[in-house]
Amino acid sequence: MCGIIGYNGIQDPKGILLDGLKKLEYRGYDSAGIAILENNKTLVFRSEGKINQLETKLSTKKFNGSLGIGHTRWATHGAPTENNAHPHQVGAVTLVHNGIIENYLEHKSHLEKSNAVFKSDTDTEILAHLFNQAIKLGLSLKEACLKILPTLKGSYAFVALNDNQPDQMIGVANGAPLIVGLTKNENYLASDVQAILNRTNKVIYLKDGQIALCKKGEVEIFTPEGTLLKPEIKTLHWTADQMEKSGYRHYMLKEIHEQSQAIANTISGNIDPTSETIQIPELKKLQDKLKNLNRISIVACGTARHAGLVGKYYLEKFARVSTDVDFGSEFRYRQPVLEKNSLTLLISQSGETADTLAALRESRVHEVPALSICNVRESSLARESDIVLYTNAGPEIGVASTKAFTTQLTFLYMFAVQLGQIRGVISPEYAKELTNDLMHLPFLVDKTLRLEKQIEEIALNFQDNPFFFYMGRDNQYPIALESALKLKEISYAHAEGYPAGELKHGPIALIDRQAAVIVLATQNTSPKTFHEAGKSDNILLEKILSNLQQVKARGGQILSVGTEGDTVFSKESKYFIGLPKASWAINPILSTIPMQLLAYHIASLRGTDVDKPRNLAKSVTVE
Ligand code: AGP
Repeated sequence: MCGIIGYNGIQDPKGILLDGLKKLEYRGYDSAGIAILENNKTLVFRSEGKINQLETKLSTKKFNGSLGIGHTRWATHGAPTENNAHPHQVGAVTLVHNGIIENYLEHKSHLEKSNAVFKSDTDTEILAHLFNQAIKLGLSLKEACLKILPTLKGSYAFVALNDNQPDQMIGVANGAPLIVGLTKNENYLASDVQAILNRTNKVIYLKDGQIALCKKGEVEIFTPEGTLLKPEIKTLHWTADQMEKSGYRHYMLKEIHEQSQAIANTISGNIDPTSETIQIPELKKLQDKLKNLNRISIVACGTARHAGLVGKYYLEKFARVSTDVDFGSEFRYRQPVLEKNSLTLLISQSGETADTLAALRESRVHEVPALSICNVRESSLARESDIVLYTNAGPEIGVASTKAFTTQLTFLYMFAVQLGQIRGVISPEYAKELTNDLMHLPFLVDKTLRLEKQIEEIALNFQDNPFFFYMGRDNQYPIALESALKLKEISYAHAEGYPAGELKHGPIALIDRQAAVIVLATQNTSPKTFHEAGKSDNILLEKILSNLQQVKARGGQILSVGTEGDTVFSKESKYFIGLPKASWAINPILSTIPMQLLAYHIASLRGTDVDKPRNLAKSVTVE
């Protein structure tokens, strides 16, 4: 949460900072600000609201400086007002910060004793005061950093300027990401690569506690103790054009439409052409451990946790391993029993979600290996895991996660099938059949995306419904949860996802004529797979049909998401979407797509800011 950008180079920083902030806006967007150092004085401009409000404020301003910092905020301490917006300035020091200084009250009370005056309600301002105190004692930015860092508790990243050192900016990463971007004459500091992809593809990822001192055309990296390091310069995989909307109205819509390609990229490199089965090269490292696994704990947050719930169905069915799925925010506080022969599987698009990272660290304490499914290379999660399976979905900018989810499902499918093979649970023939099903997935996704016109029409009819109820059984139940979350976060409509069998245990009381009820009722059209995968699809269709009737009897407006050629659900429902025929394990991936599109079109009709919905941030880096 919160985005940081810093520039030290040869150009007017204004445009570079604003452009970087727009690319980081998905990290938080309740207020923003920039500071530019010119003629030994740092000028600060801040505003409430989104970056374009700040841009308007700065539209006529021109600067002489070539050093500056910027920040887009997601409020933790203090309301989203201009006063609390970053940068914060105290004396000669100007600073932007991401994360939380947990012991800020302790520092504040010490600072107040020495007559420090606070102008905001943020934890950040104490940092600016601490720096200013040190600088007044004659310390340089680097010396001040080395003095202050040991006194701070929490996870944070920050970048600071000092009026008296107009050629330098300093950045620190500690539990929150900060990267250094390099060109011949310029350097950048940013919360993530997306802010600078159009400027450079050479970066240094700061490790926890590391300090980057950016001078003109030169960067020095230090340990928290001040020892100079030789940093590893990496070349980025992502390109600047992946960051564009490419003609789509919103990033979310673009990302929905990228799913066929993203899934193909995720599968690529994980199929062995000789055996024609899934073989994930990274798993070799844990082969013996995987053979003797007796439990998997999946831990994730939000949409990624919903992927984990589908993963449980895959893992228990294909690999016959007992699997739990936990919320990142609950896992470590409930003292989980982590056995010797278990594995922790973390799922995260960003790889920076604080609670998911904390779960990884908890499993480390118990010496349980950690395997992650992650989209962002070199993220904290990726760096700290024993094995990382990269989803290769490309940058996901829309706050509502779409292609990250379906590529996570794709990797969970691959992992479960390979684990089934390693454990000798599924036959080579069956593994081959499941692999073959998977190879068709990008094509089926593409076909499903062509249903958009029909979904847009349904959205027109549903746009004013006050309440949406999604239900599914078996591996479609997590899709009901995910579909409800998607609609909630971007349209602000009240939506609930439930296992259909729970309907009568309470939620049926919510059903009336105004309720839009979405029934996920796909058929497993791969009979061989059905035999080996278990009985849980077509048999359950009869049961979900009864649930549909119970809702219908109470006036609910029903949309069924089934399989093309269906003659039952289409007849009983007001609206029907027929997905391409697919197997039990592929169906939840396909049914996700019309649900993403439905949420998107309802939100667009309601006129919300789809890519930046209220109160949310893309990456939740605080507890
Ligand atoms: C998804 O639409 C959400 N915005 C959110 O639930 C997200 O999935 C969650 O915060 C986890 O993020 P991560 O995948 O980056 O860890």
